[in-house]
Parts: sequence; C-alpha cells; structure tokens
Amino acid sequence: MIRADAEALDRDDPLRRSRELFELPKGVIYLDGNSLGPIPRSVYPTMEDLLLRQWGQDLITSWNKAGWIEAPQRVGGKIARLIGARATEVVVADSTSVNLYKLAAGALSLRPGRRKIVTEAGNFHTDVYVLEGLARLAGATLEVLPRAEVLGAIGDDTALVMLTHVHYATAEVWDMAAVTAAAHDRGALMLWDLSHTAGAVGCDLNGARADLAVGCGYKHLNGGPGAPAFLYVAERHQGAIATPLSGWMGHAAPFAFEPRYSPAPDIRAQLCGTPPILGIAALECGVDTHLSVTPQAVAAKGRSLCDLFIRLVEDRCAGYGLTLVGPRDVARRGLHVSFAHADGYALVQALIARGVIGDFRDPDICRFGFTPLYLGHAEVWDAVEILREVLASRAFERPEFRTRAAVT
Ligand SMILES: Cc1ncc(COP(=O)(O)O)c(C=O)c1O
Repeated sequence: MIRADAEALDRDDPLRRSRELFELPKGVIYLDGNSLGPIPRSVYPTMEDLLLRQWGQDLITSWNKAGWIEAPQRVGGKIARLIGARATEVVVADSTSVNLYKLAAGALSLRPGRRKIVTEAGNFHTDVYVLEGLARLAGATLEVLPRAEVLGAIGDDTALVMLTHVHYATAEVWDMAAVTAAAHDRGALMLWDLSHTAGAVGCDLNGARADLAVGCGYKHLNGGPGAPAFLYVAERHQGAIATPLSGWMGHAAPFAFEPRYSPAPDIRAQLCGTPPILGIAALECGVDTHLSVTPQAVAAKGRSLCDLFIRLVEDRCAGYGLTLVGPRDVARRGLHVSFAHADGYALVQALIARGVIGDFRDPDICRFGFTPLYLGHAEVWDAVEILREVLASRAFERPEFRTRAAVT
C-alpha cells in the first residue's frame, strides 16, 4: 500500500465532511479522541448564548425558561439513541465513577440475598476501586477475575456482573448479548461500562436486555474535559432500584420540600444534586454532532482506520519492539489500538513532540484512538510514517521525553 491508496479511501469516505464540525489545531494528528474528544464548533455559539443570555441576562429564570431543569433527561434521551436504549432509560449525571457506584449499589438492592459482584481483572481501575469500596460498605464479596474466568464465576450467589464493553487498554469487545444472557441465566444482573462504546462502536442495550449501564461524556461523545457522564437503567428496573445517593433531584417532587425522601418513579431517581448546566450544554453539542451522522458509518470507518493502522505499523515498523495488544480482528475491537513498547512513555512523548497525539497507559502501552468523524486514512498513513521515523532515529531516547507528567 502507498499513501495514494489511503487518499483514495478518504475520497470515498461518506464522513469526510464531518471534520468541519470540529475545531482541530493545524499540524496535529489527534489520536486521543478516545480519551478527550476535540471540541465541536457548535459549542462556541451554544456557550455564548448560555453565558451571555441564559445565565447573564435571564439568570435563575433559565431553570424554567431555557429548560435547564430538564437538561439531564433531554440529553440522556439523545444519548439513548446511540446505545440502543429508550429515551426514558438514560440520564446525564455525575461522573462515570459515581454512576457506577449508584447503579452497582442499586443492583444489590434488586437482588437481596445475593452478595457477590463479579468483574474482570484489568478492567479500568476506577471500576474495580468503586466496586471494592461498595463491597466493603455493603458487606458484599467482589471477585476480580481474568477475562476467561468471568463467565464461569457467575453463580446462584451473584447479584451483579460488571464489565467494560470495550476494554480501555486492549479495545477488546465483549459480546454484550451473550454475556448478559449468561448473567441472567444465573439470576444475576448485568452492568456495562460504555465509556469507549458510546459514539464509537455503539451497542444495543435493549436488544441485549442489559439491566444497567454507565459511560463517559468526554471521550467519543466530545462533551469536553470532565464532562458529565450518563447512566442507563432498563425500564423494568425503574421504580424498584434503590439509590445510595438519595439527593433532592432524585426526589419525586424536588420543589415540594418534603421532609422525607420519596424517589421519582422513573430515571430521575438516579439524579442526586443540581445538574451541571455548563457541562451538559457542551455535552449536548457533542451528542448532537454524533446524531448528525449514522452510527453504522462511524463504526465501519473506525474499524477501517484501526485495521489500516495495525497493518501499517506491523509492516513499516517491524523490528522496532512494538507488540500489538488486543485482537487483530477489527470486528472484535473498539476504536483504539494499543501497542506495547519497552520505552512506551518516552515513545508517546516523542510522538506528541512531532504532532502525533496518543497516550500512554502503564506499564508499557502506547494507545492511539481512531475517531472517524475527523480522521482520515491519509492521516493514519502519516502518523505511522512519523512513528517509524521516531523509532528508527531513536529520538524517544532523549531525556526530555522520560520525565513523567501527572497525566500520561
Ligand atoms: C472504562 C472507563 N471507565 C471509567 C473511566 C473514568 O471515569 P470518570 O469519568 O469517573 O473519571 C474511564 C476513563 O478513562 C474509563 O476508560
């Protein structure tokens, strides 16, 4: 393959014009939209209106007038379309970590008498930490097992199976329908972390009969740094699931100022405190951007970009100590690709200095995200050429690339 072949793929790309929807710096090949999605251009006018008119002029009346109070459900309803859920099953709230805690605790409330939670070793660490904290407080047992042992560990005592649909490091995808069915067969509930799924490969929560799910707003949904997260509760569990964070926004009548808590009968019961309106507004711009294209086109192009990257790296960078992490078959992966390298941290820093932005995950993983809305095949080609140069010249050995920053 030569660069012209990659350019030809871009000419036929149905998503080639969606790049205009984003602000991207010149001279940068951004391969980290799986960690922090770039800013959609629609955020600028949206924020100007929100800051100058809604907040600036209309002040507190905007809670009613501008629909601020309904924003968590409105934007949740839009995210629902990207993950195969009903609009009434998704709400925007808190962070992924906090939502995971709320829903895992809720799952224990739905399965009284069962005290075991099962998850995967090597799952994103916050997921395991949160489950550990919950298990300690709730008197539950947490089993953290290698991927191959997860399904076998689900038993009559299991209340909840919690897994990340697209693995944060390997990008390996679980078969959502099959795993959910396996959990249900043994009477357990299934909670999915969709942080690397929403806006990337998509999924069908309703089709899989998934019980619960959480996910990030700042990755493929382009909601901005620290964007609020989303959560999903299947309609059949709403009304019955308890929440450990029984705040006033989850009350059936928040402005009745009743002396005791009485949960909303629907997805609003998962809200806790006042919604972060600035964050939700930016997230809505990101979600609207995704709704302007077809999810199938996004997933197909993303897989084509990942496939090209894997093939080019293995061909053009052979012999430089890179090992693919995760499946080679793009049908079994999400939209990031990781290669292990003994000098992974320094290698990623050297690439960033050359304008190719990926990230590093301990202990040795160089991770690159392929976000179809603004990346083309020619950029994948260029990124691999720069990677090859950095490896061949051993530019990554320079001391300035070895000092670890707080965020990797
Ligand atoms: C799978 C997964 N879950 C959760 C998180 C982070 O959650 P939070 O937004 O609460 O920091 C990440 C962040 O990268 C992630 O990859």
